[in-house]
Amino acid sequence: MSDPNINKYKQVNKQMWNEYVAIHSRSTFYGLKEFKEGVNKLNPLELGEVGDVKGKSLLHLQCHFGMDTLSWARLGANVTGMDFSEEGIALACSLAEELKIPSRFICCDLYDLPNHLNETFDIVFTSYGVLTWLPDIARWAQIAASCVKPGGFFYIAEMHPFAAVFDYQAMELRYRYPYFDKEALSFEVEGSYADHNAEVTVKNDFEWNHTLGEIITSLINAGLQIEFLHEFPFTVFEQLPFLEHDGKGIWNFPGEGKPPIPLMFSLRAIKPAIK
Ligand SMILES: C[S@@+](CC[C@H](N)C(=O)[O-])C[C@H]1O[C@@H](n2cnc3c(N)ncnc32)[C@H](O)[C@@H]1O
Repeated sequence: MSDPNINKYKQVNKQMWNEYVAIHSRSTFYGLKEFKEGVNKLNPLELGEVGDVKGKSLLHLQCHFGMDTLSWARLGANVTGMDFSEEGIALACSLAEELKIPSRFICCDLYDLPNHLNETFDIVFTSYGVLTWLPDIARWAQIAASCVKPGGFFYIAEMHPFAAVFDYQAMELRYRYPYFDKEALSFEVEGSYADHNAEVTVKNDFEWNHTLGEIITSLINAGLQIEFLHEFPFTVFEQLPFLEHDGKGIWNFPGEGKPPIPLMFSLRAIKPAIK
């Protein structure tokens, strides 16, 4: 945590995410065209586990270019999305305007959110590929928890940190990265998960793995009560190159045998109501 390069790493990551916005907005992976035609971009998992959002205030942390945020709004939530990518927030705002979806978007680093937002929400939501960009998981949990109204809840659906120890380029499960490492890991950037052939000027990004124990303990220390923690043997993107796509947005381990490791988890935690 005392790494003096953290701000430099985050700048590089931000540049990459800014470049990803144009790439992702034209990718079939994200399906912006269908979204504009009215398709809801949320997965059955979070739709089922978050439940009815009608009339509720919802804060979406690290919302990318806002399709999931606006999907919650289409379901009746009063949404606020936040992300540090200027390009992402600009596209989210223009989509909201074009599609006439009431919403608000904030552009800032997650760790600066308390300087931009002074209110609490019924639901604080975040999903898929968010924690790996955050150097300080305890501070993330404090900020997320501070945005939940008493009686409200925090929800996350995310890649399982144990799956991150395996070589993401190998055609079999091969241990490569430490589970317990606190240092930034630098990965070569080759296109994006949504378009492997896309041109990106950033050559290496910087990521941090946080153990499941650290994630949960941070949320508990931040005053939340865990309602459930679910682990899943499938995922929503091609996390490992040998996973098989079911044609409906889910990647599974190949074959009939029992899946060897968890690929995703979801968690819901409430902030106790004030008595
Ligand atoms: C994988 S994407 C979000 C996933 C989202 N579910 C989606 O697929 O649209 C990760 C997001 O985190 C954002 N991000 C990374 N580091 C951040 C930080 N320090 N503060 C705020 N946003 C950050 C990136 O800009 C990116 O939009």
